[in-house]
Amino acid sequence: MKNLLSFFGKSVGVDLGTANSLIYVSGRGIVVNEPSIAAVNNKTSHVLAIGADAKKMLGRTPQHVNVVRPLISGVISDFEMTQEMLSHFLKRVGGPQTLMNFKEAVIGVPTNLTEVERKSVEDAVLGAGVARAYIIEEPLAAALGARLPIDEPTANMIVDIGGGTTEVAIISMGGTVISKSLKVAGDKLSDDIIRYIRDEFKLAIGEPSAEELKMTIGSAVPMADKLDMVVRGRDLITGLPKEVQVKDSHIRLAISKSLKQVVETVKEVVEASPPELTGDILKRGIYLCGGGSMLRGIDKLLSASLNVAVNVVDDPLTCVVRGTGVAVENLDKYAQILDNPLQPRDITT
Ligand SMILES: Nc1ncnc2c1ncn2[C@@H]1O[C@H](COP(=O)(O)OP(=O)(O)OP(=O)(O)O)[C@@H](O)[C@H]1O
Ligand SMILES: [Mg+2]
Repeated sequence: MKNLLSFFGKSVGVDLGTANSLIYVSGRGIVVNEPSIAAVNNKTSHVLAIGADAKKMLGRTPQHVNVVRPLISGVISDFEMTQEMLSHFLKRVGGPQTLMNFKEAVIGVPTNLTEVERKSVEDAVLGAGVARAYIIEEPLAAALGARLPIDEPTANMIVDIGGGTTEVAIISMGGTVISKSLKVAGDKLSDDIIRYIRDEFKLAIGEPSAEELKMTIGSAVPMADKLDMVVRGRDLITGLPKEVQVKDSHIRLAISKSLKQVVETVKEVVEASPPELTGDILKRGIYLCGGGSMLRGIDKLLSASLNVAVNVVDDPLTCVVRGTGVAVENLDKYAQILDNPLQPRDITT
């Protein structure tokens, strides 16, 4: 019965990110692209909102409402909430029925997950109404999404700067040769900005304001145009509302230490790669994806630090989910990548 029902289902690709969750449905394309956030009434445990609706509530809720992120650094920290969020998104795609709506799913996960963590991602997807789940490492999915020649014996170097993690990997002949995952990415940059504004201007601002500063006037290197932006918050001395004018140079200073860590991690992976592949990287450059790659000037910072060309892929926020889509629509071709990944050499260990 189970098999019969699953036979009729659709296939999905899932990018369960720390900041954003995306779902690709075979034959249709990306149908869900929402923040990985839920708002919960902590008196009744009732889920009040999920996704974009919940993000609007960040920092604006009464005491009995919690706005939570069920994933931290790409790892499930709240299993029930992750499953609830996934079921909510999948129901929107597949209709109200919850069981076996989907034949199979390919899910992107960070490279350095433990078996237990991988299993929990898989379980969350299976529990949300999918008959069979396959795991793909996110840099591989990103490379597929960017249509890089991953099957060829040449280095495809991917740097995915997401919300929770920066994943750096070199892929050749359908497998990960070296990878490294750093728990410093877009969300840490926003935290750095909150801290900087607090220390420098004695002003408390929330996460959405910090993110807006980062996206609007933030940059990794000085840019031709000088920008500034007014930000509002609570004066830490008087306790009253206050607004200050923040310059692009302030944001650059606030995020410089974290960006240095990202650059160092990319450098370590390049330095640890076999010489032939280093030659390929020099020739082909590095491919940047993930929301963090949209920070202005980050490509320039990396290329100046590494002396290598850096390309930001088209539509960097959807690259991983598009890759899971390519994999789920060509399961036979990519079965090897999904079922039996070559054991990558993780240079953290
Ligand atoms: N224009 C922009 N400039 C700078 N940062 C941006 C921009 N747009 C999005 N971001 C940042 O990108 C991050 C989200 O990226 P993405 O959706 O790729 O992460 P994720 O896949 O959910 O996380 P992870 O892969 O770490 O689990 C957020 O921190 C967001 O603030
Ligand atoms: Mg991601």
